[in-house]
Formats: sequence, C-alpha cells, structure tokens
Amino acid sequence: MPSMAQGEPRSSVQNTKPNCSMRQKITEHRKSLPIASVEKRLIEEVRKNDILIIVGETGSGKTTQLPQFLYNAGFCREGKMIGITQPRRIAAVTVAKRVAEECEVQLGQKVGYSIRFDDTTSNVTRLKYMTDGLLLREALLDPHLSRYSVIIVDEAHDRSVHTDVLLALLKKIQRARSKPVGDKSEIGNMALQVQSKTRDENGPQQNGVLRGCQGRKLSPLKLIIMSASLDARVFSEYYGGAKAVHVQGRQFPVDILYTVHPESDYIDAALVTIFQIHMEEKPGDILVFLTGQDEIESVERLVQERLQHLPEDKRKLLPIPIFSALPSEQQMKAFAVAPPGFRKVILATNIAETSITIPGIRYVIDPGFVKARTYDPRKGMESLDVVPASKAQTLQRSGRAGREVPGKCFRLYPEREFEKLEDSTKPEIKRCNLSNIILQLKALGIEDIIGFDFIDKPSSGAIVKALAELHSLGALTDDGKLEDPAGYQMSRLPLEPIYSKALILANQFNCLEEMLITVAVLTVESIFYDPREKREEARTARNHFASVEGDHLTYLSVYRESDEFLEKKKVAGSGNNIDKIMKKWCKENFVNSRSLKHARDIYRQIREHVEQMGFNVSSCGNDMLEFRRCLAASFFLKAAQRQLDGTYRALESGEIVHIHPTSVLFRAKPECVIFDELMQTSKKYIKNLTRIDPLWLAELAPHHFKTAE
Ligand code: CDP
Ligand code: MG
Repeated sequence: MPSMAQGEPRSSVQNTKPNCSMRQKITEHRKSLPIASVEKRLIEEVRKNDILIIVGETGSGKTTQLPQFLYNAGFCREGKMIGITQPRRIAAVTVAKRVAEECEVQLGQKVGYSIRFDDTTSNVTRLKYMTDGLLLREALLDPHLSRYSVIIVDEAHDRSVHTDVLLALLKKIQRARSKPVGDKSEIGNMALQVQSKTRDENGPQQNGVLRGCQGRKLSPLKLIIMSASLDARVFSEYYGGAKAVHVQGRQFPVDILYTVHPESDYIDAALVTIFQIHMEEKPGDILVFLTGQDEIESVERLVQERLQHLPEDKRKLLPIPIFSALPSEQQMKAFAVAPPGFRKVILATNIAETSITIPGIRYVIDPGFVKARTYDPRKGMESLDVVPASKAQTLQRSGRAGREVPGKCFRLYPEREFEKLEDSTKPEIKRCNLSNIILQLKALGIEDIIGFDFIDKPSSGAIVKALAELHSLGALTDDGKLEDPAGYQMSRLPLEPIYSKALILANQFNCLEEMLITVAVLTVESIFYDPREKREEARTARNHFASVEGDHLTYLSVYRESDEFLEKKKVAGSGNNIDKIMKKWCKENFVNSRSLKHARDIYRQIREHVEQMGFNVSSCGNDMLEFRRCLAASFFLKAAQRQLDGTYRALESGEIVHIHPTSVLFRAKPECVIFDELMQTSKKYIKNLTRIDPLWLAELAPHHFKTAE
C-alpha cells in the first residue's frame, strides 16, 4: 500500500521489489486493517449466531478479510463455499482479484468471482464473490443454495432491488435448510416446481444440482449481513432481533470546502478543481465522483488535453477511469501505485463511495450528483436520471479523503445546497420497474408477490403494473402463473423481460441474429463515442452508419462493419495487432471501443443461452422490414407517436417526450417510433428509436392495442 505521508515521494520500488517483499507488504497491510484485531470475536459471533449483522466503516477490511477468516476457521469443510454478494459487478471483480492475490492463488482457484456474462469460478472455488443478482439466479437452479455454508450479503445499506429480494429469500432458505429435505417446507416445494421445468430446458447438468440436494440432509446456512452505514436496526428488526456487531474504523479529519456560487457546468468545475489541486496541493491522489461512463470518458480526455498546455514538469497527472462496464483487466489500474512523482486522478461513479476502497486518496471532488433509476408506476415509466446525491452518499464520499491522512473534500456547490439534500437514498425497490424481479420470484415458485416478506414493501400499484406488463409480454397467464414455455424461457435469460421477449419473437420472425446484436448493443452503455467538444465531428462520423429507419439498424451497421473490418484484417494477417487496429478504426469512426468489445462479449454469451434453449440463430438478411416489425412486436409497450406540435406522446403512459439529439431520427421526426430508454435531463428524452408503422401495433400486439371496430 502506498504511503501517504506528506511530502514523502511515492516509491516505484514497490513494483520492482522481489515477491517476498510484496508478500510482506500484503501481510502487514492485512494486519493493519481495523478488522484484523477482532477476527477471533467475529468468528465466535458467527458460530453463535445463525444471522449476524456486521456494520463497519468503509475500508476497515470487511469484504476482503472476513471471508478469509471464515475459510481459515473451517467454514469451507466438505467442499462448501462461502458466497459474498455485491450490488455492483465491479466490486465483485476487483475484490476477488485482491483476495486471490492475498491468498497467493490464481483467480478461479480458491477465490473467484461470478457476474453476469463473466464467470471465473471453478469446482475448487471456495470464496465466491458475485453480484446479488447472480445469486438470485443461482437460486433458480439450486433452490436451497446447498453448496454454500455461509452467505454474506455485503453492502446491504445500498438496498439494491436484488439485495432486498435476496434478504427475504435467504430468510426462507435458511429456515428450509434447518429442516430435512422432503419436508413440506416452502422451499422444498419450490425445488420440485423448478425442477420439473429445468429438466426440459437445461439438460442433465443443471438437473444434477437439483437432484443432488434431494433426499440429502442439508447443513444449516449461516447468514451475514454487512453494511457501511450506522443504522443496523432495520436489518436487525427484519431478522427478528438478530445480533449486530460494529467494527471500529479509523478516520482522519477531512476539510470540507464548498463553492461560493452554484456551478452551471459541474464537469468544467470538476476540471478546474482537478488542476487547482494538482498545481497547489500537497502530494496525494484525487478521487472525482461522476455519474457515468460518458462523463468519465469525457473528463479523462479533457484532463489529457489540458495537460498538454502545462509545462513539461507539471504534466505528472494520471487520469484513471473506473466504472462497471470497464473491461476487468483495466479496472485494477485504479489500485496500482502511480509512477514516481505522478498524481493519480481517479474518475469514478458512485462505486467508489463504499463498494471499493482505492488506497492513496487524499482529495475528493464531489459535484453532488448521481445517476439513479426512477419509476412512476402509474405511467409505467422507468427512467435513468441524473439527480442530486443524498446526504448519506455525500458524507461517504468525503470520508474517502481521510482514510490514511487528513484530507480535503471539494463539494462543487454552495453549503446551503447541502442542507437541501435528502437524508438517504430511497431503496431501489421503491423506484424501479419490478417486472424482472417478479418474473424471477414467480420462477422460484413464489406466487403471492403482494404478501411476500419484503424488507420495504414496494407499492401495490408498482406490483400490479409489473404483473400486467409481464402478462402483456406473454410471460404470465391470465391467473398470474408462468406461461409455458415463454415465461420460463424469459426467466432463464439473464436479461430484462422485454429483451428476452424480443429474442423469443425474433426466433419466430427469423431475425434472431439481428436481435442478438441489437440486445447486446443496447445492454452496453453508448456504442458511439460522443465527446462534448467534438459533437459535430462525431455526428458526421455517425452519419456514415446512419439508417433512415432508426438507431437499432444503425447499431447493426456499426457492429457488422466492425466485424467485416476485423475479418479483413485477420485474413490480411494482422492477428497480433488486432486490438490496436480495431481501436484505431473505432477512433476514426467515433465508436466507443470499450463498449463495442463488451457488446461482442455479451452477444456471444446470449447466443449460447438461446442456442441452449434450442433456438436456431438465423438472419433475415437484408429484409429490414421484418426486423422492424419484430421490434414493434417486442417493444410495443414503448411506442410513441408524433403530435401536431412535433413532440411525441408515449402511448403507454401518455407522457410527452422528445427525441434525444443523439438519435439518428432527431431531425427526421417520423410519425411513430418504438424506443428503448427514457431519460430525464432538462426534458424527458427517448433514446434508441426505430421508425414503425403505427398500424403494426394493433396487428402485432392486438391484445394490447384494440383496433377501433
Ligand atoms: O469492505 P471494507 O470497506 O470494510 O474494506 P475492504 O474492501 O475489505 O478493503 C480493505 C483494504 O483493502 C483497503 O485498505 C483497500 O484499499 C484494500 N484493497 C486494495 O488495496 N485493493 C483492492 N483491490 C481491494 C481492497
Ligand atoms: Mg466492502
């Protein structure tokens, strides 16, 4: 770990010293963590309590150390695993890598991670880091989660929708595992229900997991809930007065600085602050909280550009992005020590609030915003909006500056604005579309969704809306049961129900190849690279791929052209340099190379899924009409019609929306479109559109759009 003592030069020796010194450093670091002094006590508490709540300051060592303590105390005997869930993919990945390093094992051996579209575990993995959503999916195949002796639900304060559902499900599973299998326990019945379906669809391997747990006495399951915030009461009450323990952390004082006036452009304000710190403040790394990949990449570029205008000796500033969609080999760069004399500036989303701790941070820049999901169940509209962070988030952010030495936090808004912030963030389950989670609960055999034991109940309006949506998509029968086979197929695919539905329909419309590409591209954040300072240039480059029919077809062109280019280069024997060549192609075409790479990976994996389901991946060739009709049949819940004044009305919600300026249909303004995403900034925008014929809606979704007689 780098030393943060004032004025002390960062040593580059750390990178080059022989391994034993690295080892020593890691051992010393582990011993120095606050959690190390309470190892014995924690293990005793876990032995004594089936449910334990651990609250500890961020960076005290909960996530990296506790699983190792449990392993050493024998909780992985007889091949059992310890599962650690994270709300964020990136935390699962980076922490697993770190723990593998601490244990001196290759990732995927004793320690591994598993997240959607990326599984590094093997049958010898004992400490398994994963997303909370992934563990929920595992419960579909192994309803007792019988391979785990301990499950740690980490970052519970984050209250992601998957965490909330997991908390309830684990309560049931724990109860069921204290009884012999075959009992008339709820989970036992669930297992049988799921089994009958899995057998048909997933072949013998996955059935093996289920069959394996039948007739066998299951061992009890230990549950540990970990949280960074100080309020353990809500979890303790939820688990009938479960024991809570606190792990004391260390915190140095942090100077909080506010701006005098509100900033109209927080990106620009952040840039100015980065350079001000770089030029005037003592050594120490900077952490900037931004809202998403686009912003991070744009700041990364702007920092690089502005550095060129500084004298040579002042250029030792190293911008490092970190966000979920970043390829995992690049995520670890944030944790590496900067070259001698350099100052790192970490550009992160809210993942750096509590999920991951980057050593060496002394300065925090907090513009005070976060990208959050909001949902209006009356209108059935979910959108991803940039909103002010809560007080709790803001406090966590500033705390990151004082972990190793006294630090400074620059809040890019006036002090009076702080008082106006909400105390804490609303649990996600109260502000998201529930159709995905309800589909999964149904697949787990849980029929009564309204009566389900949620820690915070979603509104019944939101539940009813989601049930209606699933019914419209053909996933549920009239009496709310899973439709056979569509509902089961949809619950198996690791995608939003509407995307799963699109793939099922595309199989019938013979354009599965096109839909797989489309869904893969829609799953990643922005395939185009749209730098704010080169908007016009980017638009011209996009025109090269643009389809008059809309964005989905445009994305198809990008994907296919990049494929053709790749093939040509491979044939020409440029195999070794392919990454470099591809990056150059992307740059010239204003395509985001990270996103494209990610989309390719997702394409490959969803393709495997649908092939396993017995689908034959065929292409409609040039018949884009058929593909657009398939899009209309799938996305009919997200159709919008142009009005006389040129705005659009979303048909499902009645809301007035506008075409986002990045859409290829921004100027064309067709009469009727389907869209993928609704986003609120200064206005309500719809993104990712395709032009459709309004008559198709009644033809292709007659159950939803009744034609006028
Ligand atoms: O979970 P909690 O916030 O309590 O702490 P943690 O994530 O276990 O982190 C403990 C320590 O490990 C911190 O000092 C981190 O900086 C360090 N760490 C690291 O150096 N590299 C990682 N990839 C992850 C953690
Ligand atoms: Mg942690």
